[in-house]
Amino acid sequence: MVVKKIAILFSGNGSNLEAVLEKLHNKIFNDIKIECVLAISNKARAYGIERAAKYGVEAKVINHKEFNSRQDFDVKLVELIKQSGAELVVLAGFMRILTPVFTEQVRAINLHPSILPLFKGATAILDSYQSDMQVGGVSVHLVSSELDGGKILAQRTFQREGKSLEEWEEKIHQIEHEILPQTILEILSGKIHV
Ligand code: GRF
Repeated sequence: MVVKKIAILFSGNGSNLEAVLEKLHNKIFNDIKIECVLAISNKARAYGIERAAKYGVEAKVINHKEFNSRQDFDVKLVELIKQSGAELVVLAGFMRILTPVFTEQVRAINLHPSILPLFKGATAILDSYQSDMQVGGVSVHLVSSELDGGKILAQRTFQREGKSLEEWEEKIHQIEHEILPQTILEILSGKIHV
């Protein structure tokens, strides 16, 4: 049995953090056991902190406002990640732009609520909904120094079919809660090479 350690970074609601913990944390898949050894929120009031506690994971709060620069904040993140021994970092609704201090030292994946490379940025759900695209979707990609720009590892689409904005968003979150844990498992079990 090989233990595979992951770290999860989040900023708010934490529904994807919860999906990963529920489906993967302390679970065994063939010969690997997955453990979330570190969870970090940059916001003290993130609801994800309570969600993590339900799974016995105590999230650390690292407030980015207490650092002088993005780089200094990233130095702290990298230090904690290295100490934890996590081999993969998962950004699950982590709303910070990361600098090369982070991206060049850490193997990380990010979840994004659009079919990348379309609709990068923080308003992807609304932007994709307001476009004339007949499909929406979700991407999981490697984190690079370009925002939402690293190699795409997994994508899933759905049909517009007259959805309201609320239904569009709901569909995106439903897909996210499946595709993120699945992609993590595929990476850790060597089915996806990163
Ligand atoms: C998700 O839509 C994700 O794609 C985006 O931020 C949102 C996080 O939601 N990056 P939650 O905090 O996991 O509920």
